[in-house]
Amino acid sequence: MPLGKTDAIEFIGVSKEFESSTAVENLDLAIPDGLITVFVGPSGCGKTTSLRMINRMVEPTRGRILIQGEDNKDTPAHELRRSMGYVMQESGLMPHRTVADNIATVPRLNGVSKRDGRSRALELMDTVGLDRGLAKRYPAQLSGGQAQRVGVARALAADSPVLLMDEPFSAVDPVVRADLQRELIRLHETLERTIVFVTHDIDEAVTLGQRVAVFAEGGRVAQFGSPEEILREPADDFVASFVGHDRGTRRLTFASAGEVPIRPLDAEDRPWGDWRLALDDAGRPAGWSIDDRTMVGGSLFPQGGSLRDALDSVLSSPSGWGVAVDDDGRALGLLSSDDVMDAAARERKSRYGVGL
Ligand SMILES: Nc1ncnc2c1ncn2[C@@H]1O[C@H](COP(=O)(O)OP(=O)(O)OP(=O)(O)O)[C@@H](O)[C@H]1O
Ligand SMILES: [Mg+2]
Repeated sequence: MPLGKTDAIEFIGVSKEFESSTAVENLDLAIPDGLITVFVGPSGCGKTTSLRMINRMVEPTRGRILIQGEDNKDTPAHELRRSMGYVMQESGLMPHRTVADNIATVPRLNGVSKRDGRSRALELMDTVGLDRGLAKRYPAQLSGGQAQRVGVARALAADSPVLLMDEPFSAVDPVVRADLQRELIRLHETLERTIVFVTHDIDEAVTLGQRVAVFAEGGRVAQFGSPEEILREPADDFVASFVGHDRGTRRLTFASAGEVPIRPLDAEDRPWGDWRLALDDAGRPAGWSIDDRTMVGGSLFPQGGSLRDALDSVLSSPSGWGVAVDDDGRALGLLSSDDVMDAAARERKSRYGVGL
């Protein structure tokens, strides 16, 4: 069955009322199989409550939730919880257990031997890019990014078709966060799980999500669609303002930079003038020099990247020339800002049919 063609999880008229407030209001939402679906929205709009109703950590007041077509009420709550990986904000690791024991928690609960649990934990550390040498450490001895990876490994250990992730990357710095996001996309490509991911960051939502549900005040979904649909055609004023003013550059995330020429580093006409790109021994960019000054910085353009990557690379480069790199980070050539702007203008024209 092709991915995304059936529904892994379906909310049907689901509401959740707490004593003093309605957290979720009449939610109807079909989450496709095998894709990453993101719940995004401001604080307090019912994202966590909705996520927790999937595995019955929270019970709805009204409505039904189907998992692969079956009412989740038909499975005992403790069984359902164990059958879905769950990553919470702040990683939620058990402080008195080692990294390996934390990761092996669910397999151990399912009766896997200590030895097998441990070897599974080590494999999963490889999967999420954690050094095996960290296996015997305790959570307090990890960096924020490492702790989040342990949380992801622990969730994967459930070997479940569904993975629930509640703001798993919000406590780490932007660089580590971008790293974790890339890893998650890579993992998802190889593991083909259904992932439901909660964030209040629209950038994270459109980077990770193949479907995005924008939650609004009072636990209603204001829009559900592909990231591109949400950026291009916000359903109402709330979504438009949540998506924000720089949505033009966000949209370029979905446009290929394939037409932007990469100029060879040894081009004879040297359109970059006196600027010189310094390379390390492996041929990776190390900085820009001019006169006697060297400046580091500038995001790199990964070969095959998006028009937004290309734009970032030229806007952040000290010389104004973006540096294209291959998969190993070696410099391939340079992008001119004029070429990138022309490509952005062509993209705009092809979308709106006007205005080159
Ligand atoms: N156990 C609870 N008892 C009472 N009210 C609750 C409970 N859990 C959540 N709420 C309320 O329900 C609403 C939705 O909360 P929820 O945690 O789902 O929001 P959220 O979208 O995840 O917010 P955030 O982005 O801040 O995590 C809030 O008004 C919250 O105060
Ligand atoms: Mg929350």
